[in-house]
Amino acid sequence: MSKIVFITGATSGFGRAAATKFAQEGWSLIITGRREDRLQAIAEELSQSVPVHYQTMDVSDKEQVAAVIESLPDAFKDVTCLINNAGLALAPQPSQSVELDDWHTMIDTNIKGLVNVTHALLPTLIRVGNGTSIINVGSIAGAWPYPGSHVYGATKAFVKQFSYNLRCDLLGTGVRVTDIAPGIAETEFTLVRTKGDQAASDALYQGTRALAAQDIANTMFYVATLPDHMNINRMEVMPTDQAWSLFAIHRQ
Ligand SMILES: NC(=O)c1ccc[n+]([C@@H]2O[C@H](COP(=O)([O-])OP(=O)(O)OC[C@H]3O[C@@H](n4cnc5c(N)ncnc54)[C@H](OP(=O)(O)O)[C@@H]3O)[C@@H](O)[C@H]2O)c1
Repeated sequence: MSKIVFITGATSGFGRAAATKFAQEGWSLIITGRREDRLQAIAEELSQSVPVHYQTMDVSDKEQVAAVIESLPDAFKDVTCLINNAGLALAPQPSQSVELDDWHTMIDTNIKGLVNVTHALLPTLIRVGNGTSIINVGSIAGAWPYPGSHVYGATKAFVKQFSYNLRCDLLGTGVRVTDIAPGIAETEFTLVRTKGDQAASDALYQGTRALAAQDIANTMFYVATLPDHMNINRMEVMPTDQAWSLFAIHRQ
């Protein structure tokens, strides 16, 4: 029987690339996201090689999440790997100029959404047991501060600590938990963050070698297929062309 991966935010970026990677390796896919046309197109393409179940799902809607997981078809019930990938950053400007709704959207998606899906799938993962994994997509922003990161970085710090805390509770169940924390990666992330500013997105990735979505998808697959007794707690992945910078100092 093929293994089954449940991916949130499979319509773009890391999630889309993960769907392709796991399908190439023979896994069955449950792909979710809000954009149905994209899910349908991905399902059409990848179901040529593996079983695919797609379902629109807004992770921030806990009733919808519970219903989607409750109604998984029999062939997709024994989920082996949950990839909590859906997420976004908004409002790259300083905190004092941000719309409150943007902060709420990040909290609702990156924190509440991740918690909603995890809570609904935990009984399944524990039932399936050894070799199952939860891969939470954090960010370097969860560990390192930078201007304009405000609530986004704080939501990813939540992802890190929640991942560690889950490990404590899941000890003995065989369920593994990993926080994969990428650095700069070229996806639709910056387009979403700037609310559609293609020029700003292009400028950010110009002249450097950012991570590609496939790099993180390959990392996810590596983590999900380690021997059952191995758990990577957190994996911070940056492109070679990215590093930390100096502390900022305000001068009169
Ligand atoms: N790219 C980077 O530089 C970078 C670095 C570190 C961490 N990350 C993290 O990586 C994850 C994936 O981002 P990405 O770079 O691949 O960006 P992306 O290309 O914009 O993809 C984001 C995905 O999240 C989904 N999503 C957003 N809100 C959702 C909601 N309420 N319910 C369900 N799905 C939702 C989107 O699908 P729909 O719009 O169809 O719902 C989309 O599939 C995020 O958690 C992000 O914070 C990205």
